[in-house]
Amino acid sequence: MYSSLLVETVNQIATITINRPDKLNALNKTVIEELGKAIDEVIGDPAILSAIITGSGPKAFVAGADISEFSLLDAAGGKALAQKGQDLVFSKIENSPKPIIAAVNGFALGGGCELAMACHFRIASETAKFGQPEVNLGLIPGYGGTQRLVQLIGKGRAMELLMTGNMIDAATALQYGLVNHVVKSEELLSKASSILTLINSKAPLAIAGCIKTANAVFNERQDGYAIEIETFGNLIATADAKEGAAAFMEKRKASFKGL
Ligand code: COA
Repeated sequence: MYSSLLVETVNQIATITINRPDKLNALNKTVIEELGKAIDEVIGDPAILSAIITGSGPKAFVAGADISEFSLLDAAGGKALAQKGQDLVFSKIENSPKPIIAAVNGFALGGGCELAMACHFRIASETAKFGQPEVNLGLIPGYGGTQRLVQLIGKGRAMELLMTGNMIDAATALQYGLVNHVVKSEELLSKASSILTLINSKAPLAIAGCIKTANAVFNERQDGYAIEIETFGNLIATADAKEGAAAFMEKRKASFKGL
């Protein structure tokens, strides 16, 4: 179905693997378009509750946008490339009502670091490396990297990484708060799945509410506190919230239906 992705769903968790290992999973036009479709599938399929994005092979998560597609672009073409990527993939992941997390298995550079940052949170293998090396090409990130790096690790550290193009290792990424966990390579996908299995046991509408309200912090056109009040009110009237309260009072495990 996809030429550059592998998508497999197990226990209501979709694993999307970017599959161009010979090009270190660089994001070419096809990968961006297919990622957009795969994320639509995750969001639209009621049998899927959450997703993991990872890279194929031992070396790279994603080594960036495909540099071979850059040379013919003029200013309008460059803007279109960045806009299309943000619309089709990066903003869509960030605003997905279902959790999408990154399992970073190697180089996460440029668009790869941006892809990981667009996800709701990140888990890394000990071999992961992160960086925004666009300045080496006379560029800046175009898939939201300047914004999300500052949001995630703070302005000073982000400015240094953006302006030096330096890479950081997984331990430093953990210390910076760029990733939540660092595990051995062979444990990466099982760690990601076990966290999503726990999240999947909660009420899906409440999970969507967490994503929407936490994202509002970084949207200056939104009043996050007002969105929280509205979302809290809407959730308390749902069947799942009634079930959650009843299960607590009856000292049993809640069974949520996403309603
Ligand atoms: N775009 C296109 N092709 C890429 C790529 C990218 N972002 N990153 C790696 N590749 C390709 C290489 O051209 C090479 O292809 P080839 O075998 O046909 O020559 C293949 O992937 C393997 O990469 P290589 O550079 O040989 O591996 P390495 O181990 O020596 O170095 C990196 C690994 C990640 C340090 C290096 O590939 C690199 O710097 N990549 C670009 C990172 C970058 O600038 N990303 C931001 C883009 S905006």
